[in-house]
Amino acid sequence: MSASSLPAPAARQRFRRKLLTWYRANGRDLPWRRTDDPYHILVSEMMLQQTQVDRVLPKYLEWLEKFPSLTALASAPDQDVDAAWRPLGYNIRPRRLHTIARESVARYGGELPSDEETLLSFKGIGAYTAGAIRSFAFGQRAAILDTNVARVLFRVFVGRGDAKAHAMRKRLWALSETLVPYKHVFDFNQALMDLGATVCVARKPKCAACPMTKACRSYPSLSDIG
Ligand code: ADE
Repeated sequence: MSASSLPAPAARQRFRRKLLTWYRANGRDLPWRRTDDPYHILVSEMMLQQTQVDRVLPKYLEWLEKFPSLTALASAPDQDVDAAWRPLGYNIRPRRLHTIARESVARYGGELPSDEETLLSFKGIGAYTAGAIRSFAFGQRAAILDTNVARVLFRVFVGRGDAKAHAMRKRLWALSETLVPYKHVFDFNQALMDLGATVCVARKPKCAACPMTKACRSYPSLSDIG
């Protein structure tokens, strides 16, 4: 791969294969990974924005007991929705989720739409969440890029430059789009997140446990990061 181009097909294949093999042995068993229900995926992804998995786990299950469907959520009073979210902090996300539920009932028969454009038209659903819903709930070949995924892709395929620059963000999205496979999209995207969350962590990455070191542009220099 040259400095700015995307990985060749063989390199993409190797990355996918290694990542999926690693995930099948090391991936976390999380309740939102046992479902392809679009609403459940939406709830988990909105809760996981800026909140740790451990804190989300009990609230996710409680939420789905209280509001088991988009229709149930749509008809719930504002104060019940806000109260159910409160342990996750005061923020705009419960309001957004409530509005998405109401709009889905009003316009889409109580279902979450599956196409990118409509998903992006909802306030509260950005490029990451749309990619997560499309790949996890609808099995579409859709890319994701959150902080963890961006760090993995930057380190493995780029290695130097300003990881936070706008142009870099675009490049990392392009990488994610190129790498996402046609099959096993669900596992592949969850695996990317897990590698970033558990191995390729921001401080003191666990390179000894990483399946990508052979082809990683940041290895071994990163292993020294304190
Ligand atoms: N953070 C955001 N989405 C996630 C997911 N599906 N699994 C684990 N952590 C996440």
